[in-house]
Amino acid sequence: MSIEISLKYENVKDVINDDDLNDVQEKIEQANKLLIEKKGPGNEFLGWLDLPYKNDGDIPKFNETVEEIRLEADALICIGIGGSYLGARAVIEALQPNFHVCSATRPQIYYAGHNIDSDYLTDLLKLVKNKNCWVNVISKSGTTTEPGIAFRVIKSMMEKVYGKSLAKKRIVATTDRSKGALRTLANEEGYTTFVIPDDVGGRFSVLSPVGLLPISVAGNNVKGLLKGARDMAEKLNNDSINNNLANLYAGIRYLLYQEGKSIELLANFKSKLTFFAEWWKQLYGESEGKNGKGIFPVSVNFTTDLHSLGQYIQEGRRDLFETFLVVDHSNNYVMVPGDKDNFDGLNYLAGKTFHEINYQAYKGTASAHLSGGVPNMTIHLPELDAYWLGQLIFFFEKAVAVSGYIFGVNPFNQPGVEAYKQNMFKLLGKP
Ligand code: PA5
Repeated sequence: MSIEISLKYENVKDVINDDDLNDVQEKIEQANKLLIEKKGPGNEFLGWLDLPYKNDGDIPKFNETVEEIRLEADALICIGIGGSYLGARAVIEALQPNFHVCSATRPQIYYAGHNIDSDYLTDLLKLVKNKNCWVNVISKSGTTTEPGIAFRVIKSMMEKVYGKSLAKKRIVATTDRSKGALRTLANEEGYTTFVIPDDVGGRFSVLSPVGLLPISVAGNNVKGLLKGARDMAEKLNNDSINNNLANLYAGIRYLLYQEGKSIELLANFKSKLTFFAEWWKQLYGESEGKNGKGIFPVSVNFTTDLHSLGQYIQEGRRDLFETFLVVDHSNNYVMVPGDKDNFDGLNYLAGKTFHEINYQAYKGTASAHLSGGVPNMTIHLPELDAYWLGQLIFFFEKAVAVSGYIFGVNPFNQPGVEAYKQNMFKLLGKP
C-alpha cells in the first residue's frame, strides 16, 4: 500500500452518489481549464501555483538572514494579519512541540498586529522585555491598520532597547517589491527586505517569504515543505475528478452545498492543527464567500469540542457537513496504565495508546454524525511533518481555486473586507 494523503468519502454517499460526481466532472474540467489557461477571474493572482518551485531555501540573502536571526535571537516577533500572518503560524504550530519554549537553536516566534487588543500587546512587550528580539514586519500593502499600529509600538520599543542603528539591523520587512508605505520606510531605514510577489494574494502566500522566513527561523524543514507542495502539485496536474484529490474535494463540497449543506466543519484531533484550521478558514472563507454564495468554514478541535459543539453537530440544524483531518501516525505513543482498583472503570483501556483511542474516537464520531444527518469525509495525513504539511497546503489551495470557479466567483479577491475598514476609518476620523 502506497503511503499518501487520501480522501475517504463513503460517509457522504447517503447524500451524493457516483453519478452526481460524474455530473460535476464537466464543471471541474472548466474550472481547471480556467486555471491552466489563466483566463478566469483573478488570473493576475496565480503566482501561488509556482511558489513550490521557487524559494527553495537557496537564496543567499534569505539563508543569511535566517541564520543570523537563529544565532542571535531569543524571540522573533512577526507582525502581520490575515494572509500575512496565518500561514506562518499554522505551519510553525503544527510542526513544533506543543509547549515550545525558546532554545539555543530555536528562537521563540511571537505574533503581533493580528488584533487591536491593548492587553495582548502589553503582555507581549512584557514577555519579550529581557529577550534578545528581532522583528519581521509583514504587509503587502504596508497600510493595514492592525500591523501598522503594532509596528509603530514595537519599532519604538526596539529603538529604545537597542538604539536606532542597531534596531534597524534587527527589523526585517516582507512587503511589496516597489510600492507601499512599508517598502518606502524599509528603503529609508535600510531594513533587510523580502518580496511578496505581485501575483500572490495574502491567503495564498504561505510558501513565499511571508511564511517561509518565520517558518525557517523557527527551525523547520522548509525544503521538505516545498518538496511536499511540489509533489502534490504534480499529482493534481489533471482535470479528472477520480484521479485528483483537489478536484474530488471541490466536487464533493459543491454537491453537498447543492443539497443545502452550507457549513463545513474542519475537524481535527490534534491540538497542533488548531492554527492550520485557522489558515484553512481564511483560505476558504475569503476565496468563496462572495456574491451571496459560498460554504461557511468553521473549525472544531476534537475531542475537546465534542463536549461543547458536539451536541449541536449531532442534533442541531442539518445544514452542516464535516471534513475530518486525521493524522494516521504519531511518534508519541502514550499508553493508558492499568489500575488495580479500576476506580474509574477505565481498565478496559489499559494497554491501549492515546493515539489508538483518539483514532477510535474519530471513527465513532464520524459514524455518529453521519447517522445524525451530518455527511462527512476524511482527509488522511500519513504523518504530521513538513513534507506532508506541504502537500496538504497545496492540496487545499488548488481545491479552493477549483471550487471558487465552480461556484462562479473570483477566488482571488476579497472586496468584502473593505466594508469594516471604511466604517472604522470614518469613526476614527481618517482624513
Ligand atoms: O488575504 C488577504 O489578502 C488579506 O488577508 C491580507 O493578507 C491581510 O489583510 C493583510 O494585508 P497586508 O499584507 O496588505 O497587510
